[in-house]
Amino acid sequence: MAPVRNSFLVFGSPDIREEEIAEVVDSLRSGWLGTGPKVDQFEKEFKAYIGAPYAIALNSCTAALHLSMLVSGIGSGDEVITTPMTFCATANAIVHTGARPVFVDVERKTLNIDPDQIQKAITPRTKAILPVHFAGRPCEMDPILELAQRYGLLVIEDAAHCIEGWYKGKKIGNIGDITCFSFYVTKNVITGEGGMVTTHHESYADKIKMYGLHGMTKDAWKRFSDEGYKHYQVVFPGFKYNMMDLQAALGIHQLRRVEENLIRRNEIWKRYDEALAELPLTRPAPVEPYMIHARHLYTVLLHIDRIKKSRDQVLNELIRENIGTGVHYTALHLHPYYRQTFGYKPGDFPNAEYIGERTLSLPLSPKLTNEDVEDVIKALKKVLG
Ligand SMILES: Cc1ncc(COP(=O)(O)O)c(C=O)c1O
Repeated sequence: MAPVRNSFLVFGSPDIREEEIAEVVDSLRSGWLGTGPKVDQFEKEFKAYIGAPYAIALNSCTAALHLSMLVSGIGSGDEVITTPMTFCATANAIVHTGARPVFVDVERKTLNIDPDQIQKAITPRTKAILPVHFAGRPCEMDPILELAQRYGLLVIEDAAHCIEGWYKGKKIGNIGDITCFSFYVTKNVITGEGGMVTTHHESYADKIKMYGLHGMTKDAWKRFSDEGYKHYQVVFPGFKYNMMDLQAALGIHQLRRVEENLIRRNEIWKRYDEALAELPLTRPAPVEPYMIHARHLYTVLLHIDRIKKSRDQVLNELIRENIGTGVHYTALHLHPYYRQTFGYKPGDFPNAEYIGERTLSLPLSPKLTNEDVEDVIKALKKVLG
């Protein structure tokens, strides 16, 4: 039988327009490719969009998470509480500081960390809670902040999926101590690779800026500018985590369209909600009235027992229909490193494992045409019978 479409629909394909291309070309012509005026401008515009006093651009969200923990003094012997339903970068960044990632199971409904289960994971070694706003749905932050205050913990948010999100009248990026964003190529704002930190703490912001560029004193990147040569001093053996102007050139225009894209993402979301209602799958739960969902991933949970096919079978059959999908995620504690190093095993986090076996993310790029969306629906109907 002929596939539903003739050309392959790439999952998470970025929407790049002429303005991004012109801005990159402008950087190339100017000769200023590395960290420079465009990174400065992107930081200013991002800060204004979020409404946070400080924003520091870096070369990934992984770097943002790593530095956020380092500057807040997290290291060997410490514990950081996070979710097993996330990309490996979240927990890997904890490991890079020398601390131990302590997973707490998620809720089946929201796919976010279950605030009711956090308290029992807190020990005298716990230094921070690291919630992930999964798929763009803000975590229930009030109980997390309340626990953090009661036990003197930091809240570092992984908002890789949640640039557009709001929680109870507050924009994500203004709630915890430090928030980390990703501009990886499938994200809602892309720079190819890239990340950003926002915070209300000046001292964290200053340190992140320094630690992200070899630990050199502030504004070291300006040493080659026309402001006159500036000597720098190394105050910490930092990292090479700075964003390039070539990346910021993309981000500036991507960010300017983010709210317009959210309208399109909402349209696609609504169409999936209607069209998939009768299929053997669980659609994403509606968002609470006091939240704005960033609509990063439309993840369904397949009723694998009813359809008598595994998630991977469905995924492969969709590929044969020329529809690309994603898996977000296999529960992180089941990966060999986490099992072998921290002793995690199947059964530890039943909800994350349940989701990990059934989850499938459908294309949601604002670039999708209505026909593309209908093709996804048709293919799913065909494959799920
Ligand atoms: C939840 C989550 N956290 C962190 C990251 C890491 O982001 P980056 O690729 O920008 O380092 C990702 C990226 O896919 C992610 O999805």
